[in-house]
Amino acid sequence: MFFFKLINLLIMSSGVTIVGAGVTKFGKRTDVSYRDLMAEAIVEAINSTNGEIEPKDIDGLYVAASQPELLVDQAHVGNLAAQVAGITPNIVSRVEMACASGSAAMRNAWAANKSGLADTILLVGLEKMTHNARVASRGLCLVPDVENEAIHGITAYSGFALAAKMHMKEYGTTREQMSSVAVKNHYNAARNPKAQFHEMGEITLEKAINSKMVSEPFNLFDCSPLTDGASAVIITRSDLAKNYTDQPIQILGSGQSTEPSIGVSNMKSITEWHALKRAAKSAYEMANKTPSDIQVAETHDCFTIAEIIEYEDLGFTPKGQGGKFIEEGESHLDGSLPINTSGGLKAKGHPIGATGLAQITEIVNQLRGNAGKRQVADVNVGLTHNLSGFATHHVIHILGN
Ligand code: COA
Repeated sequence: MFFFKLINLLIMSSGVTIVGAGVTKFGKRTDVSYRDLMAEAIVEAINSTNGEIEPKDIDGLYVAASQPELLVDQAHVGNLAAQVAGITPNIVSRVEMACASGSAAMRNAWAANKSGLADTILLVGLEKMTHNARVASRGLCLVPDVENEAIHGITAYSGFALAAKMHMKEYGTTREQMSSVAVKNHYNAARNPKAQFHEMGEITLEKAINSKMVSEPFNLFDCSPLTDGASAVIITRSDLAKNYTDQPIQILGSGQSTEPSIGVSNMKSITEWHALKRAAKSAYEMANKTPSDIQVAETHDCFTIAEIIEYEDLGFTPKGQGGKFIEEGESHLDGSLPINTSGGLKAKGHPIGATGLAQITEIVNQLRGNAGKRQVADVNVGLTHNLSGFATHHVIHILGN
């Protein structure tokens, strides 16, 4: 009895390690079906292990998918993923937290691993949106408070546009500063062959500023696009990781928090995201790190203003200084803290369910030194931040090698 209790205690005190992570090419993927896209991401993740992983080793499965019922007429996608992967896990779940589904799935999988319920867990995130932009846009309009807000016409763009206007008024953030976020993220996407706008290449500030209006003050280059894409990550107990990789990446910290509200009207502030700050505090404390320890980050730039507010509320710069942070090049690839080296949601793309795990994949690649032309030198600690709704829910992970 004592022996079994001891074994259980050892399992629960073991760390959680990422042994594989991969993404598909993002963009208009009319060349593949939903399940083929899923398979492509799983193969990418397996290819980033040492190849020794067997289907029988995987005893947990989490699938992040926001709206497959609306978009591809398929429900029960957790079971579909088990079929595609050819596995028989004893814990299976689909996680739906809108744009933060992937990171929420990671937090659940991390907890399942820590509890000893599953040793080795496959996570898959995906969405296929571009074949029916009208339905995809309607789906996004269902994320806010439909009964009290969306019914009056508020959309993702107009909600974040309010935050942008307020931030401009309160802190003097400028049009140029917001467009500079887009210029930086397209610069990074030009160095990421998997990014949706890789082929577009770098863009100028003038192009970003003068693009067509979407929802004042946002124009086209302030917005992330509709995207098809998938991502997959494999985690295991730290003591088992050496069986699957010689480049293990530790999950050092995990944090999550929501506003006590789904809509924008009940938020204490739309320019200071308290739920983000709570999630960040938990993650930093668990990892025993501070913002100054972070060397590379992927943050949720669904709209350019979001990235600016995230610089501030993640603690990378004082409140109100986010605009200055981008203007002075601090978050550029060669800046003091490179952010969204993948191209971010803005230019890598934002296939809703895939985004959180794609952010984790980018940090894994950075920490392993596998990020190609966008590699940041000598990085050991990275952060991912993923949000949903009008910034009413946030998930943060801190990774290290
Ligand atoms: N940034 C840059 N270019 C974009 C773009 C974006 N966000 N979205 C589309 N484009 C480009 C397309 O590639 C296309 O280029 P091409 O003509 O050279 O092929 C062109 O603009 C027109 O594309 P289209 O799909 O017709 O654009 P649209 O005007 O219908 O849609 C948006 C633009 C911004 C409305 C759409 O991308 C969108 O809905 N984005 C927001 C998604 C969202 O809310 N996600 C959740 C965030 S919380």
